[in-house]
Amino acid sequence: MDHNRVIIFDTTLRDGEQSPGISLNTAEKLEIAHQLARLGVDVIEAGFPIASPGDFEAVRAIAREVHGPVIAGLARAHAADIERAAEAVRASERPRIHTFISTSDIHIVHQLQSTREDVLGQARAAVAHAKSFVDDVEFSPMDATRADVEFTAEVVAAAVEEGATTVNIPDTVGYAMPDEYAAFLRRLYDLVPALRDVVLSVHCHDDLGLAVANSFAGVQAGARQVECAINGIGERAGNASLEEFVMLLHTRADDVELATGVQTREIARTSRLVSRLTGYPVQPNKAVVGRNAFAHESGIHQDGVLKERSTYEIMDAASVGVDDVSSIVLGKHSGRHALRSALEELGFTLSGQALNTAFKRFKEIADKKKHVTAMDLEALVTDELREEVATYGLEWFDVEASSRRPPHATVAIRTPDGEVVRGNFTGDGPVDAIFRAINTAVRREARLREFRIDAVTGGQDALGEASVILEIAGQSAAGQGVSTDIIEAAALAYVRALSNAERKVALAASEAEEERELTPAP
Ligand code: KIV
Ligand code: ZN
Repeated sequence: MDHNRVIIFDTTLRDGEQSPGISLNTAEKLEIAHQLARLGVDVIEAGFPIASPGDFEAVRAIAREVHGPVIAGLARAHAADIERAAEAVRASERPRIHTFISTSDIHIVHQLQSTREDVLGQARAAVAHAKSFVDDVEFSPMDATRADVEFTAEVVAAAVEEGATTVNIPDTVGYAMPDEYAAFLRRLYDLVPALRDVVLSVHCHDDLGLAVANSFAGVQAGARQVECAINGIGERAGNASLEEFVMLLHTRADDVELATGVQTREIARTSRLVSRLTGYPVQPNKAVVGRNAFAHESGIHQDGVLKERSTYEIMDAASVGVDDVSSIVLGKHSGRHALRSALEELGFTLSGQALNTAFKRFKEIADKKKHVTAMDLEALVTDELREEVATYGLEWFDVEASSRRPPHATVAIRTPDGEVVRGNFTGDGPVDAIFRAINTAVRREARLREFRIDAVTGGQDALGEASVILEIAGQSAAGQGVSTDIIEAAALAYVRALSNAERKVALAASEAEEERELTPAP
């Protein structure tokens, strides 16, 4: 392999999906995985198959349907985990099992309640077991950056001896500093010469805001795989942001002389898709993909950019796809054919019932909004993709809002068995009233955790895009809704979040039941 090529290992669907409140179903994970393939990542870590039947199914579907990238499944260093991961990735043209065990004493003593000797044995056995299913095996000594480097080296050497093809060194808790991390990797190279025969990988968390800097220090020390996630999502403060790392190598290519296979023009679209489906907003000033990443506020800057873009821009917005979609504009006279071509240009291939539904929604919006832009279409279609998995549906609503008396809402909701139930509530504000009216209709005490409303584009007739995260019986889930009416967008988002949370509650109950059946009576 070309020594200047860095492998991009995307963990949006595994570490990213572990972010609190994110719960993607199989259809959504597939949608993201297809877009990641279009983006040109080398490896998609599709999930943690032993974690739940839903995770298993999603990894299996991605392995079956997504072509191009390696498809990896995560497994602890346990035989059962590895067998489940092997089964899940089996259908992929390029399957990988990624197995891990901690090497830090903090984890060994307190979490695993084990010994270094046992960890070494387990790591060896896990890699050997994974190798009996697939050729491509990745091993990670978890919490490596807080571990004894000599012991970690011993474990890594055992993993390489058993056939690991990639060795990943995680900064699990985002504790490392760039120089220190690079020194740790260099020391590992000294202690384990065989490490030069496999791919060394980095996996950095962002607890101190150093994930991208540490990943970069890692590649400078010789690593050639970077584990990262779209929009930097992941456990706690998240993982290294894929778009930041890729654009760092791209923008500074002359100095760094390292490249990835990422199609950078797909970055903005991938970021928007992940944000929509996860319900995780992108902060406006986020590097590369934030709304303001290419905006110039001060007069001096605007003047400079108008004269010559490079005065205040180090990257061209077009190179990350920010302005790629702006040429598409449809209106209320546009037909089904125009809609289908515009969607195809955006990377969505819809036909049959899905196209009919999208067309109906498009007409509803075009009646209220003069110009339907590519950004609107993208929001609408992503929203529509969620429809088929919705358990509940919003039939209609009335909201009376006034500054002289408390707002009152009445809603009609279609339940999973087709019945239409009504609820009403007088709340603190119109959105509060409609959310609580929905709770009353479905007789659920859902608790609102987060609510956000954004405009998809600028202008007075902009589409409103609402995101809701709510919780039922300890299960939290996200939902999105799009409409020219922000109350409707909010209600749609709430009903979808409710459907997702209900599905999680039902799944948790059936898993608990399965576990009870498997536990032998005392
Ligand atoms: O952060 C971490 O250590 C991980 C491992 C499973 C690689 O996510
Ligand atoms: Zn991680």
